[in-house]
Amino acid sequence: MISNKTFTMIKPDAVKAGHLGAILHDIIQAGFKVTALKFTRLSPELAGKFYDIHRERPFYQDLVTFMSSGPILAAILEKDNAVEDFRKLIGATDPQKAEEGTIRRKYAASIQENAVHGSDSNENGQIEGSFFFSEFEKV
Ligand code: TYD
Repeated sequence: MISNKTFTMIKPDAVKAGHLGAILHDIIQAGFKVTALKFTRLSPELAGKFYDIHRERPFYQDLVTFMSSGPILAAILEKDNAVEDFRKLIGATDPQKAEEGTIRRKYAASIQENAVHGSDSNENGQIEGSFFFSEFEKV
């Protein structure tokens, strides 16, 4: 099924570097509509829960520390084929491997500090959106 929603976070590195406005602009220019928005900071516990699927990976602890190191912007985005199109817009996990013009290529410094999150499936988009937003926060 083609979903029309995905979930994103603008990560602490990009917020700290002052790229929040530029990244949101790129996202909206690419045709995504913001249907929920929250500027917040994850505790280590919440960051750990969000990335629970990676708990056994060697980078997990550093990822949790990084994701709780400063504020993030969380959003639900709407567009036809949202999950796939958004993954294309942000580029590969490692910014050095991301295509020219993608958000990670433009704004990210490393595979860990890679500026943005994008859901990797319709199901995860649903789960991740509901992790951050209650029903009345979704327009
Ligand atoms: P992953 O789900 O593989 O990538 P993506 O965010 O592109 O879906 O990994 C989740 C996050 O974990 C990734 O955005 C950054 C971090 N990460 C590392 O810090 N080191 C690594 O080697 C990998 C693969 C991921």
